Amino acid sequence: MSNAFNQALTQLRSDPKTWLITGCAGFIGSNLLEALLSNGQRVVGLDNFATGHQHNLDEVSRLVGPENWANFRFIEGDIRDLAICQQACTDVNYVLHQAALGSVPRSLNDPLTTNDVNISGALNMMVAARDAKVSGYVYAASSSTYGDHPGLPKVEDLIGKPLSPYAVTKYVNELYADVFKRAYDFNSVGLRYFNVFGRRQDPNGAYAAVIPKWISTMVAGEPVTINGDGETSRDFCYIDNVIQANILAALAQGEAAAQVYNVAVNARTSLNQLFDYLQAELKVCGVNYDVAPVHGDFRAGDVRHSQADVSKAQTLLGYQANYTIQQGLAEAMPWYLRFLA
Ligand SMILES: NC(=O)c1ccc[n+]([C@@H]2O[C@H](COP(=O)([O-])OP(=O)(O)OC[C@H]3O[C@@H](n4cnc5c(N)ncnc54)[C@H](O)[C@@H]3O)[C@@H](O)[C@H]2O)c1
Repeated sequence: MSNAFNQALTQLRSDPKTWLITGCAGFIGSNLLEALLSNGQRVVGLDNFATGHQHNLDEVSRLVGPENWANFRFIEGDIRDLAICQQACTDVNYVLHQAALGSVPRSLNDPLTTNDVNISGALNMMVAARDAKVSGYVYAASSSTYGDHPGLPKVEDLIGKPLSPYAVTKYVNELYADVFKRAYDFNSVGLRYFNVFGRRQDPNGAYAAVIPKWISTMVAGEPVTINGDGETSRDFCYIDNVIQANILAALAQGEAAAQVYNVAVNARTSLNQLFDYLQAELKVCGVNYDVAPVHGDFRAGDVRHSQADVSKAQTLLGYQANYTIQQGLAEAMPWYLRFLA
C-alpha cells in the first residue's frame, strides 16, 4: 500500500467523514462504498439503477457487516434532477461522482441520453456540491478523452479529438471543472480511469466491458470474439488502484486539489495477451478452457492503443498502482466464478 494511502486511511479512521458516492450501485461506486464503510466512514449513496444493481449493495452490506452498514444512507434518484443532487449533498464533506452512462457503443447508439446523464447530470452535481461547500469533489473522467492523440504513454496535457459521444461528455466534465475553478473558485479532481476491472463489474448486457464479458463467455465454454486483430491494447487497471486514487484525490490540498489525473498502471496489454491471461487464470482456478477465439470487426469509436503515464498522480497525490493486471485478475477471477455459478 502506498504510504500516502496508508496515512489517508489512518486519518479518516480517526476522524470519520461523510461522503456522497453517486453511482453507488454500480461497479466502481459499490467498491468505493465498501472501502469507505469498512474504514468507518459515513456514506450517502445516490443511484437510479440505470446500470447498477441492488445485488451490489446487498453484497457490500454483507461484506462490511451491520455496524458499518448502519452508516450508509441510500437515495434512489436521478442526477438529472437538481433537487435530488442538492438533497444528496446536504452535510457532505466529500463527493465521489461516479454516476454516468459508460460505454462507447452505448453512446454511439443513443447520444442524447448519454449527453443528458453525463453532461447535464454531472453539471447538476457540480452546482449542488459547490452550493453545499463540500471540502473535496472527485469525478470520474476517462481515458477516452485522449481520443485520436497518438502519443504513448498518455500524458494529461496532450489530448486529441474525441472519437465518440461518450468521450465528448467526459471531456466536457473536465471543461466544466476548469470553469468552476476560474468562475467560482470551486476545486475538483478529475480521475481519468483507464479500463477498470474487478469484482462487481457487470458481465451481462450489450455494453459489458471486455474482461467480465470474456470471463462469462469462457465460463460458459463458448468462443470469445476479439474485435479486430487483437493487437488493440489497453492499460487495464484493477479496482483497488481506483479506490486508492479516489480517496487520495478527495483529501488532496492546494494545487493537487484542482487537477486531472490518469489512473492506471502504465502498462499495456493487447487483447490477444488478455485472452491468454484469462485462460491461464481460469486454469489456476480449476477451469480448463481451450476454445479458440474468433476475430470480428474492429469496434467503431475505439482508440487503438492506450497506456497511461501515472507520474502526475504519483507526484501530486502519492498514488501508487499496487496491482498489475495479472495480480488484479488473480483476485477478480474467484469472485466471477462464484458470481457466475
Ligand atoms: N469502468 C471503467 O473502465 C471506466 C473507465 C473510464 C471511466 N469510467 C467512469 O467511471 C464511472 C463508474 O463506471 P462503472 O464502470 O462503475 O459503471 P457502472 O455502470 O457499473 O456504474 C455507473 C452507476 O451510475 C448509475 N447511474 C447511471 N445513470 C444515473 C443517473 N442518471 N442517476 C443516478 N445514477 C445513475 C448506474 O445505475 C450505475 O450504478 C462512470 O462515470 C464511468 O463513465 C469507468
